[in-house]
Amino acid sequence: MHTSVAEVAGAAKAAAGFDVALGVSAALRNFKAPDKLGFGLVAAPVMFSAVWTDGAWGRGELVPYGPIEILPGARALQYAELVFEGLKAYKVGAAGPSLFRPRENWQRLKRSAERLSMPVVSEALFFEAVEAIVGACHRCIPQESGRSLYLRPFLFGTEAGYLLRNSTTFRFMVIANPVEIYSSGPMRVAIERDDVRAAVGGVGTAKAAANYAASLRASNAAVARGLTVALWLDAREQRFIQELSGMNLFAVIGGELHTPALDGAILPGVTRDSLITLARHLGLVVHERAMAIDELLAQILSGECTEVFACGTAAILSPIGQLTDRDRREYVPNKIDAVAAQLREALLAIQERRAADPFGWTREVAPLAL
Ligand SMILES: Cc1ncc(COP(=O)(O)O)c(C=O)c1O
Repeated sequence: MHTSVAEVAGAAKAAAGFDVALGVSAALRNFKAPDKLGFGLVAAPVMFSAVWTDGAWGRGELVPYGPIEILPGARALQYAELVFEGLKAYKVGAAGPSLFRPRENWQRLKRSAERLSMPVVSEALFFEAVEAIVGACHRCIPQESGRSLYLRPFLFGTEAGYLLRNSTTFRFMVIANPVEIYSSGPMRVAIERDDVRAAVGGVGTAKAAANYAASLRASNAAVARGLTVALWLDAREQRFIQELSGMNLFAVIGGELHTPALDGAILPGVTRDSLITLARHLGLVVHERAMAIDELLAQILSGECTEVFACGTAAILSPIGQLTDRDRREYVPNKIDAVAAQLREALLAIQERRAADPFGWTREVAPLAL
């Protein structure tokens, strides 16, 4: 049983093209977030779903959060025919709910889908879904600085079959989680010299689930050594820094910022791009270039490189306390969270709309009365 959102929400959303399932209002009403949110531990009470059949997207639907049915032979399960996104909605202090650079996430989802030959989620459908979740869940968005509603749009192939071709049926969903900043303090990074995560020509530039599967063994090995996360090197020579498993990397060298140039295998992070723009706006010099790992390690030892940090939607900016090589040698930058702390606060203040937004990055979302 479904009701049109126009009937439920009145004129404010009369133009919306999605349905609202029975049970949504009760799910929203009954939701209470625990104090400890973690990252992805607490699910928002509703989710959005739309299905692609016969070459077109059907009408979207807002439904209570819960398990979904999928055929065991679906290509998403058998062949990792799945791409996803991650972005945050903020509602700090008195400000209404807003999204940070959501169009960048739509564009990246589009590029990811194109790389895997999947149908593109139109900009209109993407925004309908994301804004439906944020609008419906506006009371679930934490209001304390550092907390937010993390949105996870994802697109996957649902057709069963072992032939190596795309599905003809797909599903696009958005789920959400009220979250804290994803941070475990200064990270201890394991330089991964054996496994590779992504090669030029592969799917590294796409936010494809397969990339994350490729990273799991090294992540587990890093954790088993008492470290936090793996640092990936280029697949061809294992010489140049790519990124961490879920974050891009920056170093402060000679007082200037350096980050690996997008090499055709690195994921182009929205936070990375925002930081480059923001840092330049604040008067810092930023270099995007090929960064050899051995050169960076020598610069840490000589003191020329004073600080290393990582960035991504989940953690915003996370300091790196040490880099550990395969031979267990540790490289400790002189400073932890100096430039990074300033940039984090400047970026977070824009994201949380506590500071002016000179770049037009935030986009307000109207609450939905459901
Ligand atoms: C592999 C990888 N690199 C970098 C990032 C950072 O990207 P963004 O700043 O868009 O979150 C992420 C997170 O999305 C990621 O999964």
